[in-house]
Formats: sequence, structure tokens, C-alpha cells
Amino acid sequence: MKNAFPTLPRVAVQSLRASKIREVANAGIGRAAVLPFWFGEPDEVTPQFIRDAASASLARGETFYSHNLGLAELRATIASYLSALHPNPSLPIAMDNIAVTSSGVNALSLAAQALIDPQDRVVCVTPLWPNLVEIPKILSAQVECVALEFDALHGWQLNMDRLLAALTPNTRLVMLNSPNNPTGWTLTRDEQQTILDHCRKHGIWILADDAYERLVYSDTERCAPSFFDIAHAQDRLISANTFSKSWLMTGWRLGWLAGPASFIEPLGKIIEYNTSCAPVFVQRAGQVAIEQGDAVIARTQQRFRAARDHLCQALGKIEGLAAPAPPGAMYVFFECHGLTDSLEFCKQLVTEHGIGLAPGAAFGDEGEGFVRWCFASETARLDEGIARFTKGISGKGKG
Ligand SMILES: Cc1ncc(COP(=O)(O)O)c(C=O)c1O
Repeated sequence: MKNAFPTLPRVAVQSLRASKIREVANAGIGRAAVLPFWFGEPDEVTPQFIRDAASASLARGETFYSHNLGLAELRATIASYLSALHPNPSLPIAMDNIAVTSSGVNALSLAAQALIDPQDRVVCVTPLWPNLVEIPKILSAQVECVALEFDALHGWQLNMDRLLAALTPNTRLVMLNSPNNPTGWTLTRDEQQTILDHCRKHGIWILADDAYERLVYSDTERCAPSFFDIAHAQDRLISANTFSKSWLMTGWRLGWLAGPASFIEPLGKIIEYNTSCAPVFVQRAGQVAIEQGDAVIARTQQRFRAARDHLCQALGKIEGLAAPAPPGAMYVFFECHGLTDSLEFCKQLVTEHGIGLAPGAAFGDEGEGFVRWCFASETARLDEGIARFTKGISGKGKG
């Protein structure tokens, strides 16, 4: 049908990139028995004690609005959790540093709405989950992407000189996701210090997307290096986080923002005009998840680590593939030598072989030639996926 309103939607919205992951998923709609590894979603249902907390809240009749910034108890619980995870006398974290949000992606949108004026310069490090690159564009920001550099020996590496050169004094915001979706690339403490010093000098805000900070596969660390470990209370630092991954709560749509109290307090107005608040029974579930969820996180880390190793080993046996194990997050982002159209390849994998993977090009131009596989899955399902993928790749994508 001809567009009856040719001036709508806004130009900024017209120019948003449609998700190539969705494009592949749409090609699979209606096909029975597709094995979906395309989205970042654990295959396990939320633990019972968390679901029980939501049921109990509903049974108590907690069906009303809450404070825009979330229930005081939950904000205090998140503050204590973060203080314990990132002990730093220069950056005390209290309830007034926390806003509860309706998911991680909502947290990112709210932070962007609070910080970005039209034409502001925003810098992202890619390959990256497309939402971070597109959200600032809704607000008419000028987004510049700095690509990580890949070589088969070292994997994805940040070229610090290139990032610092992009972080010009007129940059408003840098968005960093570490551990990273899709590559698993993780900032080191030294890299964070260099970025923090530079941003301090030029008054640039840092928005750290910490969705995967607990999904690290190290024998010694229970969390990825965080800007919170090294920052001061005066720093322009915001962290966006989510209950989705570490506590297996994707469908609940609950997250938070942590930052300076002077940033959080006015955020209440923006939340009022977006969602007004997160549902109370969902907030109650989130509170119990944090209070009693250490074992859930420990088990999830273990399970995902085994799944990662299993998948990387299997992929490594396929000729023409390089699949080094990522240090964090829940994806293997692997190169298929000679592959030039990852979108087309992933569509073929769905339609001809019943396996759903995400095309590397969805995460930035430098992701072309790669494919992302979410390994948050049980072994039998991964094995069936590997069998289907092996059939799909034979004769295709190899140089
Ligand atoms: C890097 C990153 N940040 C944030 C999110 C947000 O998750 P949610 O909106 O489910 O809380 C995701 C989800 O895939 C992600 O990959």
C-alpha cells in the first residue's frame, strides 16, 4: 500500500538499520523444528524461587505503580550487590545511584535520552549488538564506530590509538560493551584506565553496557574488569545492566542503571514518560534473584563454559573455520573462510538445514565473513546444531 503519510516517520527513524538477525529469524518463521541459536537467550527457564517471588507478590495484590526509579528495597539491594562486586572507596554506591528499568535495552534507551541532544557525537566500539549503535540515532546523534581489529592468532583487539583519536573533545558519549556481544572481547583493566583518563580530560560520558559482566570464564575472576573498580564518584560514568542473562530472566524485562546521583535523580522524569516504572511483581522477583542468586550465577557460568568449550572444539574440527573460545558473554563469533555474504548464508542455513544463526554483518561491516552462535544451550541441542551446520557449510563459505 502506498504510504499515506509520506513525511512520517521522522528521517532519523527511517534511516535506522533493520536487524539482520530478525531478517534471518523471519526467514525461519513457520518452519517446524528450526534450532534457534540466533538470539542471546539462555535455554533454561527462570529458577523456581525467582518465579515464586513474583507469584507471592501478585498473591499479595501488588498490582500498583511503584516509584519511577523503582522500589526502594530493590534499589538498595542492587546498590549493595554492586558495592560488594566492585569495592572501591572512591566510588561508594548507594540507593540514590540506582534506577530500576524495564530491561537492559530500556536502560540503554533511557541513558541515551538523558544524555544525547540532536547532532551530538557518540562513539561505539564494534562489532556490537546493533541496539547500541541504533538507539542514539533515534535521538538524531552522529554515531561513529571504531572497529576492533581481528587476526586469527589474537582474536578481536582494540586499537587504543584509533579509539582515543575518535574520542575528540566534542564527543558527548562513548558506549562500550564488555564482555562484548558478539565477539566476547573484554576490556582489560589497563585499557579501561586509559579510556577513563581520556574521557575525564575531555568531559566525555562513558556508558558501560555490563549485561555480561558476570558471564566470564576464568578460574580466578567472578566478574569482568569494570569501570566501577577504578572510577571516582565525580566521573561521568554510567553502567547499564540487566537481569536477563546472569539470572536467566530474559522475558521479565528488568534491568538497571547505576551512575552519579545527579544523573539518576532527573532520570525519574524520563522514566515517567517512557514506562513510568517496572512492574512491582517483576521487581520483587529481581530482588530475590540478587539476594539468593549467587548459586544460579555460579552454575550458569559453569554450564556456559562447558557449552562454549564443547561448541568451539566441534567447530574447530570443521575445515576452513576458526573458532577460538571467547573469554566472556555467551556467543562464539567465528570466521568462515571465504564467506562474503553472511546474511544470505544464515538464511540458507535456516531454510535448507533448520539451524538459526546470526549473520556477522548484523554487528557491523567488519563482522562480514563471521557467524554468531549463542551457546547458552544444552549439549544435545548443540550437537544437533553442529550436525546441521556441518551439512550446511560443506561446499559453502569455504575458500
Ligand atoms: C550487549 C547487550 N546489552 C544489553 C542487552 C539487553 O538485554 P535485555 O533487554 O534483555 O535486558 C543485551 C541483550 O541481548 C545485550 O546483548
